[in-house]
Amino acid sequence: MSNGKIIDGKAFAEDLRGRVAVLAAQFEAHAGRKAGLAVVLVGEDPASQVYVRSKGKQTVACGMASFEHKLPEDTGEGALLDLVEKLNADPAVDGILVQLPLPPHIDEQKVIAAINPDKDVDGFHVISAGRLAVGQPGFVPCTPLGCLMLLKDRLGSLSGLDAVVIGRSNIVGKPMAQLLLAESCTVTVAHSRTRDLPAVVRRADIVVAAVGRAEMVKADWLKPGATVIDVGINRVPDTRPGAEPGKTRLVGDVDYAGAIQVAGAITPVPGGVGPMTIAVLLRNTLVAAHRNAGIALADDAI
Ligand code: GUN
Repeated sequence: MSNGKIIDGKAFAEDLRGRVAVLAAQFEAHAGRKAGLAVVLVGEDPASQVYVRSKGKQTVACGMASFEHKLPEDTGEGALLDLVEKLNADPAVDGILVQLPLPPHIDEQKVIAAINPDKDVDGFHVISAGRLAVGQPGFVPCTPLGCLMLLKDRLGSLSGLDAVVIGRSNIVGKPMAQLLLAESCTVTVAHSRTRDLPAVVRRADIVVAAVGRAEMVKADWLKPGATVIDVGINRVPDTRPGAEPGKTRLVGDVDYAGAIQVAGAITPVPGGVGPMTIAVLLRNTLVAAHRNAGIALADDAI
């Protein structure tokens, strides 16, 4: 997906969904059923509703079955755990995703722990995190796996490269670091307590920014030619000349306009990492379906 310096995540995600669709049709022919993804949404958070609708649509568009479970905000933890148990036992369901955040009266960790790790297509279960850490087959969280796919597409082998991950969340920073380590990068995980972050970032051939702070990473922090992956999605007032008063726009964690002058390649926001997350979720569901049905899928098939 080369387009000069800009890494086109939207085009890569589209291509990935196309490859998933081809393999999903082959899976259906072999297994006599579609690969299936169950998505559980508790409550009415507008952003979560948009995500869940989008996941359902893209799942069906790829030729897989989508099972949506929408539960009211006041659903008890016990009722949610019962539903997860039902989905664990349902042979039509290959992947289970419980949309986060959950309402405050529900313990997220308890719910994630209840998901069968073989159906954990989000990769959030501690067993999935452990499998990633020790290099066993398992499921990897979708956003960092999408970032890795973009990096390998752009750079080929990552072996020996210096990588700096900014952010240490369980969902992005930590699994990203594990993935880069498995590719034989020399990995530094930076965070809010890191001393002299610009100097740390300046060493990096690969920068993955996942802190959630608008345009924090500046052009003069980057080593010339570095590959920059921007995971941030921040809504800020649009103060550009000519912008309507009160309008907002999306920006990443990297000062894109400056960074593109220095970087070798960079993901834009929007249109970079964002579209990869759902595409990788569909990829993980397809892999889960093959494993659950005992049908072989080559490691490099997708
Ligand atoms: N909420 C926002 N992104 C995600 C995601 O990737 N998975 C889940 N389960 N919840 C989310």
